[in-house]
Amino acid sequence: MAFSIKGLKTAVFAAALAVAVSPVSAKNFKIAVGDGAGGTQEALGKAFIEALEKNSNKKHTATLFLNGQLGSEQDTVNNAAMGALDFSILAINNITPFSPSVGTLTLPYVILSLEDAQKVTTGPIGQQLVKNTIRDANVRIIGWAYSGFRVLSNSKKPVKSVADLDGLVVRVPKNAIMIETYKSWGINPTPMAWSETFAGLQQKVVDGQDNPYITINAMKFYEVQKYVTNLRYIFSIEPLVVSESLFQDLSKEDQQAVLEAGKAATAFSASFLKETEDRIKKELSEKGMEISDPADGEKEFIDKATSTVWPKFYESIGGKDKLNEVLTALGRETVK
Ligand code: MLT
Repeated sequence: MAFSIKGLKTAVFAAALAVAVSPVSAKNFKIAVGDGAGGTQEALGKAFIEALEKNSNKKHTATLFLNGQLGSEQDTVNNAAMGALDFSILAINNITPFSPSVGTLTLPYVILSLEDAQKVTTGPIGQQLVKNTIRDANVRIIGWAYSGFRVLSNSKKPVKSVADLDGLVVRVPKNAIMIETYKSWGINPTPMAWSETFAGLQQKVVDGQDNPYITINAMKFYEVQKYVTNLRYIFSIEPLVVSESLFQDLSKEDQQAVLEAGKAATAFSASFLKETEDRIKKELSEKGMEISDPADGEKEFIDKATSTVWPKFYESIGGKDKLNEVLTALGRETVK
């Protein structure tokens, strides 16, 4: 059979091009999960996998790697950004360092209910955050776990007022907004990766931390923490992100399957929270945790945090207007 060098070169180039642009074939994707079994992150992940299998006619599936097996939550953002990890489910506060505008939703006392959280994540503000996160961090938010308020737990004493925090060493994520919030309450918190937190509490490097009830249970913090305060300063929302490089390598149909699965999992997460949170809270108290409410309807905590912390972060979230957009969407008074 006769063929020319030019013809061979053309064929090789065409084959290389086909490989370069061929969409991802059937895959078992890896999903990093920061929390342990039984948490809202796992519930979101399972619902996502079920919907992904259905939407892709079983072409794709995924496996959850719980308990930070694939790295700390912040590391998984880097890994997904570089295309070394497919998906990650993590708390929003651990994305903020990579995409500061997301911080609008971790400012204290901005999201005050599940309904607020659903409104901002599924409406135009959520869409804007998706775009910003792709631009800044090369990951795409495709779903949300709604995890409830981050209540404060500690091993030393009941906390009801800002003054009660005195003498406590509280672990916070490596998140400037949360660090400043505790400073506004008069203490210097200790930034620590989520994957190191249980050991930190157990070895008494830190006395306390804050996270939602379902997370406290999934992480077995009741083994090393006694007192809980029903703070409501951050309603925890936890995005499911996909590596943008992976997403762009998917066929249009597969992209659609992934996006639709993310939406289905988000809807499931809201019902999971409603059905689970009260039961878990009761179980934690049966396990010996002492739960109390902040005095004066939390007024002192709210006043100190909103008056000092909000203005410090206007610039990093993209201007005061960004906060006002959220407050307006939630039917609240804007800041002047
Ligand atoms: C953190 O405290 O770092 C996170 O909120 C933990 C989580 O992902 O549940």
